[in-house]
Amino acid sequence: MKSIDEIRAEIENYKIENAEALEQFRLNFLSKKSELQSMFGEIKNIAPEERKGFGQMLNELKDKAQQRFEEQKSKMEAAICSLNTIADVTRPSANIPLGSMHPISIMMNQVRRIFEDIGFTAVTGPDIEDDWHVFTALNFAEEHPARDMQDTFFVELHPDVLLRTHTSSLQVRTMEKQQPPIRVICPGRVFRNEAITSRAHCIFHQVEGLYVAEKVSFADMKQTLLYFAQRMFGPDVRIRLRPSYFPFTEPSAEMDVSCYICGGEGCNLCKHTGWVEILGCGMVDPNVLENCGIDSEKYSGFAFGLGIERMTMLKYRTNDIRLYFENDVRFLQQFKAATL
Ligand code: DAH
Repeated sequence: MKSIDEIRAEIENYKIENAEALEQFRLNFLSKKSELQSMFGEIKNIAPEERKGFGQMLNELKDKAQQRFEEQKSKMEAAICSLNTIADVTRPSANIPLGSMHPISIMMNQVRRIFEDIGFTAVTGPDIEDDWHVFTALNFAEEHPARDMQDTFFVELHPDVLLRTHTSSLQVRTMEKQQPPIRVICPGRVFRNEAITSRAHCIFHQVEGLYVAEKVSFADMKQTLLYFAQRMFGPDVRIRLRPSYFPFTEPSAEMDVSCYICGGEGCNLCKHTGWVEILGCGMVDPNVLENCGIDSEKYSGFAFGLGIERMTMLKYRTNDIRLYFENDVRFLQQFKAATL
């Protein structure tokens, strides 16, 4: 059995730094099963003349332990209490950070809103397509390079199951289902087997537009696109159409807007040309109308297609397309104001 002195030293030196240690202290010296308590049971085995002294010493130790326990306990309670008084319970809670919309969604919505305001309806369709809707119905020649495995992702190497390379497939799907007048825009994700660089990605987004009715003219297209450019980039923006080629439009054009940064004077953004290319467009080729069951003698139409990443990069002046796919919150947060 430990000596009375040893137990006294233990009681005095026991390190009580936290609630667990306090409880352990209680178990060691104050609980019924503690060594100290069991020593009370030994009293009867002690010579009668020594019993009184022994009992007194045990009681002393017990009181000492009890006192130390109480002291430490109230110290701890006081510490917790002072923590509580430091905390200001009336302080408003910290804001839960608000998310922001992804810049691609913001731009998609803007484009969509502009066209919806002049009577276009948004339609969507499958990302996984077939050759007919992406190429053949759109007048792509059999040996057109866009069909090549270099550009197109084929699913399971099956030549008729592929990821759409442009949203023009939705022109076909719309015209197959619906007779003119047709006025739709088609937002969507597109896929091309391209090396990922700061300017190109294998996934990106397009908005396709299609207007087919009686007597739709090139002038209608020009006016529609001017309206779009001015709402998107500001009322002073001018447009310019340059001749181009797409299998599904004839004639075809590429549209530039006058540089909205320098107003056409020449700057880095427009590479000192005063113009920035923003979309492809043209009059729907009669072959395409016929392929979709629309009478090309009676109806004509125009179509256009624009790249959302490109528009977003131009509008928000970012220089790396990969930023839109990395989803780094520090990048995305900068579009909070544009979300509201
Ligand atoms: N589909 C074309 C592309 O991905 C974009 C395009 C150009 C769409 C001209 C059109 C158009 O509807 O008329 O590059």
